[in-house]
Amino acid sequence: MIDTSIVQSLEDSVNYVRSISKLRPKVAVVLGSGLGSFVNQMKVEAALAYSDIPGFIPPTVEGHKGRLFLGHVGPTPVAVLQGRVHFYEGHSMPSVVHPVRTAALLGAEILVLTNSAGGLDAGMKPGDFMVIEDHLNLMGDNPLRGPNLAQFGPRFPDMTEAYDRKLVALMLEVLNKLGVRHHRGVYCGVAGPTYETPAEVRYLQLIGGKAVGMSTVPETIAAHHLGLRVCALSCITNLAAGLSQSKLSHDEVTETAKNVEHQFGQFLAEFITRL
Ligand code: HPA
Repeated sequence: MIDTSIVQSLEDSVNYVRSISKLRPKVAVVLGSGLGSFVNQMKVEAALAYSDIPGFIPPTVEGHKGRLFLGHVGPTPVAVLQGRVHFYEGHSMPSVVHPVRTAALLGAEILVLTNSAGGLDAGMKPGDFMVIEDHLNLMGDNPLRGPNLAQFGPRFPDMTEAYDRKLVALMLEVLNKLGVRHHRGVYCGVAGPTYETPAEVRYLQLIGGKAVGMSTVPETIAAHHLGLRVCALSCITNLAAGLSQSKLSHDEVTETAKNVEHQFGQFLAEFITRL
């Protein structure tokens, strides 16, 4: 049986957004913790609070605002999701991916995800960026679990190229051009909300992870299922537990993200203009 409530709720969201703005985004962007000020770089046509959009859940975490912006970055029509809800907040996977699915149904063909993450490579420094080339889904759930929404995509989606190779290459080109310190690698998506233990960090290193965080993977899966081209950038806000002397705190994460927010916005503006 198809879960009609998911489809109905997405239709409600899409209809509401369309009643406010007719803009058809080509690109959807999700702004992670502390990275929300990118919206200052766009020509905004409409700004909608998640709390006003039927089917949307306002985020509860500090550093996540909860607004959908429609407008342009350079010539490109965009939908920017400022803030996300996370699995660790207790929401179901379909709720976590609801905003991204809404953006797709509004017309977005490309999804740009951003997040804050812990670095698993001792050579990383807080404030570095990492282009996500692939992921490990360690969240213990999947947004596509349950009856397949066949109008969205296949039952068993191929994940060989979850992160679009051409977009990865363009991200690296723009980061190089801007002279921003960056890495490339595999993102480990964990459920949280605890940060990792040092033993878990050693495990993630062993299985090939380069960064770890509590988001992004569900959104990538749902968007890829819908046929969008996906790319994602992590801001390495801290070295993962046990790799530095200091204990981890959300304040440290948002503070580091704030420090690179300007550079981050510059990158996104240039990247999206070239899409
Ligand atoms: N672990 C998990 N999620 C994170 C981290 C971390 O070290 N930093 C920012 N988000």
